[in-house]
Amino acid sequence: MNDAVKKFLEATKLKNMNPTPHKEGKETPKLETPCEGDRIPLPEPRSLDLPEISLRAAIAKRHSVRKYSEQPLSMEELSYALWGTQGVREQKSGVTFRTVPSAGARHAFDTYLLVNNVTGLKRGLYRYMALEHALVPVALDEKRVSKLKDACLGQKMIETAAVTFVWVADIYRMAYRYGERGYRYIFLDAGHVSQNLYLIAEQLHCGTVAIAAYDDDAVNDLLGLDGEKYFSVYLGTLGKR
Ligand SMILES: Cc1cc2nc3c(=O)[nH]c(=O)nc-3n(C[C@H](O)[C@H](O)[C@H](O)COP(=O)(O)O)c2cc1C
Repeated sequence: MNDAVKKFLEATKLKNMNPTPHKEGKETPKLETPCEGDRIPLPEPRSLDLPEISLRAAIAKRHSVRKYSEQPLSMEELSYALWGTQGVREQKSGVTFRTVPSAGARHAFDTYLLVNNVTGLKRGLYRYMALEHALVPVALDEKRVSKLKDACLGQKMIETAAVTFVWVADIYRMAYRYGERGYRYIFLDAGHVSQNLYLIAEQLHCGTVAIAAYDDDAVNDLLGLDGEKYFSVYLGTLGKR
């Protein structure tokens, strides 16, 4: 075990388990990071006409796919994938309950999207606003997708995927309740999100691959994140097979 891992485990081991002290005197975190800009409403995910697949089949077939066809993803499919990875099921008493679990229902992720090949959307960087189930264009430049590929150590599938999801942590949203241990929960939460994308990909006849081999600073810079309060945690591609 290397020193960095030891330090991480030491910092996040069984302490700070009582949530209350972390909250006292602190400003309540927002449920998602605000983002200004025009909203692009997404189709209602619950009523979409999408192929059905049994859960058993989706689990049995799930695997990482790194090659995609040139067929674009539809807005309906994108809407469904966003809902299935971070969509809000219910909002009550100042917390959200979503399609994925989260420690203490903190739901500390914001989803950024690098759109490459989605019908009706220009290429570039978008934010998914989970509470509104809408997209906000952040930077519609053609080169951002290939810059993301570079930041991900040249992993080529980013340039052929229809879209790449980047799950970004707002650490305060989690640490507000759990202190340093919140870092651990962020990474655990991320696994659930990615797994749902894998299952959704099976349903949509798409492929996905989880991506964690990347240059943190380069990805954070590309998204305009400070890398400390807000930082990228995990990525996932999605594209037609
Ligand atoms: C935490 C994590 C990080 C990963 N990072 C990458 C990555 O950066 N690039 C990649 O091609 N695959 C990545 N993968 C996918 C794994 O290589 C893949 O899951 C593994 O080879 C097993 O294949 P399967 O998913 O088809 O079962 C990652 C998977 C996980 C869980």
